[in-house]
Amino acid sequence: MRAVWLKEFGGPDVLQPGEAPDPVPGPGQALIAVTFANITFVETQFRSGGMNPFQVQPPVIPGNGVGGVITSVGAGVHHDLVGQQVVASTGGTGGYAEQAVVPAASPLIVPDGLALDAAVALLADGRTAKLLMRAATVGAGERVLVLAAAGGVGSLLVQLAEHAGAKVVAAAGGPRKGAVAADLGADRVVDYSAAGWAAEVGQVDVVFDGVGGELGATAFPLLEPGGRMVVYGLASGAWTPVSDDDAAARGVAIRRGISGTPEDLRAFTESALEDGATGRLTPVIGQRFPLDRAADAHRAIETRATIGKTLLVP
Ligand SMILES: NC(=O)c1ccc[n+]([C@@H]2O[C@H](COP(=O)([O-])OP(=O)(O)OC[C@H]3O[C@@H](n4cnc5c(N)ncnc54)[C@H](OP(=O)(O)O)[C@@H]3O)[C@@H](O)[C@H]2O)c1
Repeated sequence: MRAVWLKEFGGPDVLQPGEAPDPVPGPGQALIAVTFANITFVETQFRSGGMNPFQVQPPVIPGNGVGGVITSVGAGVHHDLVGQQVVASTGGTGGYAEQAVVPAASPLIVPDGLALDAAVALLADGRTAKLLMRAATVGAGERVLVLAAAGGVGSLLVQLAEHAGAKVVAAAGGPRKGAVAADLGADRVVDYSAAGWAAEVGQVDVVFDGVGGELGATAFPLLEPGGRMVVYGLASGAWTPVSDDDAAARGVAIRRGISGTPEDLRAFTESALEDGATGRLTPVIGQRFPLDRAADAHRAIETRATIGKTLLVP
């Protein structure tokens, strides 16, 4: 089969398309013919030798989220799964490929009314955004600032916070991204690539921070007493430089929100897919790349050229 190999850590060009043996599902596994594979930001950081959430070393086929049809199952797995259209986390690697083996407990059947590409776009980001909303405990009427609001997770947070009755300020880089956040229902849009952007935001109750660094540091003082900074990523390359003590001194809290039990993760993923099917959540699929061009996809993501989710198409 065709697949994308990471043979060493480095820049986007270390992602090399090539051949890989057709995977065979072992006991307790299912095989998916992949129609779409998602790319998450952390995979660009893994590729470059930074974060390594699954503690794997090259050579490896990256990719933790796929959607397609189950074509076979291993011993001990119910045959009814074969032929089902599903989305699934791979368990860490193997997603950038024409076929992927996943633990049989992983696939979720795509609900009626939800297109497969939308389901793949919602798989990781939907679950993450829902976990973050739980961590933030957003109340009706609260003011919520979403950083990177046109990104994969950010674009869903804008919608979920709106549904919770919050007043959402969407902060993103440049007018094109701001327009996306406005279309998703943000009450106000701020271009944080412009000097003095924080003054335009004003005081807020919640900050969703997947960016870190200087932008996160600029957002932190905007929190009112009682406010919550929900920190979940470092797209800038550095965490927001504030400690729990800094927060306590200001009467605010820092919450790190993407953990949950396996049951939580499954339930939150199902809930995101259901919201996608009913139209409550709209994933923004900003760009699609053929599988062989995974390097270009990573380059686009890390140069901030992407909007919403980026999918690979085998
Ligand atoms: N996807 C998930 O399920 C998940 C789970 C856990 C954690 N996270 C973390 O959440 C954060 C967002 O993830 P995502 O997949 O939704 O990514 P994303 O928002 O689609 O992409 C990252 C965005 O961050 C902004 N950004 C600000 N400074 C940047 C810089 N120096 N370099 C690159 N981008 C920069 C860019 O938007 P602007 O151009 O608008 O600034 C960029 O488009 C990441 O830190 C990721 O590790 C994601």
